Amino acid sequence: MTRPVPRFPADFVWGVSTASYQIEGAIHEGGRGPTSWDAFTARPGAIVDGSSGEVACDHYHRYPEDVALMRELGVDAYRFSIAWSRIQPDGRGPANAEGLAFYDRLVDALLEAGIAPTPTLFHWDTPLALEDAGGWRERDTAERLGEYAAIVAEHLGDRVKRWITINEPVVLTMLGYGAGIQAPGLTLGLEALPVAHHLLLGHGRAVEALRAAGAVDVGIACNHAPTWPASDAPEDLAAAGFYDILANTLFSDPLLLGEYPEPVVPMLPPGALDDLPVISAPLDFYGINYYNPTLVSAPDPDAAGLVDGHELDADLPFALQELEGYPRTDFDWPVVPEGLTELLVGFRERYGDRLPPVVITENGCAIIDGPGPDGAVHDQRRIDYTAAHLGAVADAIAAGVDVRGYFHWSLMDNFEWAVGYTQRFGLVHIDYETQKRTPKESFAWYRDVIAAQR
Ligand code: FCB
Repeated sequence: MTRPVPRFPADFVWGVSTASYQIEGAIHEGGRGPTSWDAFTARPGAIVDGSSGEVACDHYHRYPEDVALMRELGVDAYRFSIAWSRIQPDGRGPANAEGLAFYDRLVDALLEAGIAPTPTLFHWDTPLALEDAGGWRERDTAERLGEYAAIVAEHLGDRVKRWITINEPVVLTMLGYGAGIQAPGLTLGLEALPVAHHLLLGHGRAVEALRAAGAVDVGIACNHAPTWPASDAPEDLAAAGFYDILANTLFSDPLLLGEYPEPVVPMLPPGALDDLPVISAPLDFYGINYYNPTLVSAPDPDAAGLVDGHELDADLPFALQELEGYPRTDFDWPVVPEGLTELLVGFRERYGDRLPPVVITENGCAIIDGPGPDGAVHDQRRIDYTAAHLGAVADAIAAGVDVRGYFHWSLMDNFEWAVGYTQRFGLVHIDYETQKRTPKESFAWYRDVIAAQR
């Protein structure tokens, strides 16, 4: 059953999200420098279908068509990311005019279509020169992000009003540097924690640069997952408590309270606490990416111990368990809309007035769909998923949480990191052979939802 979408506040922002490496392609064009993802995807076995973002959705060339689709969809805003290495091919030094020109064209096309450009400065595609010098293990990378943010803000600030600094520092830290499932593919386990700090500092430096350029609508996009203990046994509660710190409060506490959860402090780089004033500079909104809760137990040799099909071999003080009893997406992620209400209400309780207005910067589901004999893509499960999650947001608003917008992940099918093109998250289907775009049934449904809110 599709939950009817309730009425949202009149100024609620309706949007869709994407990210540069997942859609742009054209990796050798426009003076773009190589990134951590170009190197990672070249490693045999790193990506399940052996693919890469080399062509992806060819958005670099087809952005006019994609903007036209968004105009048809009727979104207020489009969250995309800027590829750092198009602007600074080596991650430092002067701006590459051709790179800036691409985002000029995109931003102008969006404005022309009445869509507010909402760029994320950094969505995981670290310039390879910086990655090779230690990437986010190094404090210098945070300083470089600030310098890059200044260039972009200066250039686009006359037209871009809403900015997102970085995407999901937790995933880059844990899956990229901790578990080796994503770029750069390092398996540092808990020794990856300095990466989290440097990403947060990079965020703070980007905020400084954006403010210096006059930006008044600045936020971050953090992935959060309610952590559910596998049982009431003290070992499970302790393990879940620790996991919750790593996945959630390690990021939200420094950003919103200006302090790190006590247990992680010894794992941070020396002097990290001195950076807290920069990290906790006030934000205009806090972006939350939500997919599903996580069920956690004490270490357990029999636990699935899997993240999206990958074994976690690091020696960790917790185990991830299958969350049974819920429908699942084709990516095998449990569908738990009430987890989003729980998360939002929990944030409001924990952070009170320190929590700025919240924007859902990502939410969506993978369904392996494609055009049927009639040429249409019947993705009722995506409609049901989205309706249920919008309902969960409305429930949180009714409970007093100030949520100002919802960006569906994603506008179109795209390169889904370690699983390549095997999972489809789009409202628009992409035929990767022909680059034909086919709006799915969920596209028409979302268009009607947005129109009905007006
Ligand atoms: C998030 C990422 C986004 C996308 C979705 C499915 O973790 O930010 O790029 O891959 O998951």
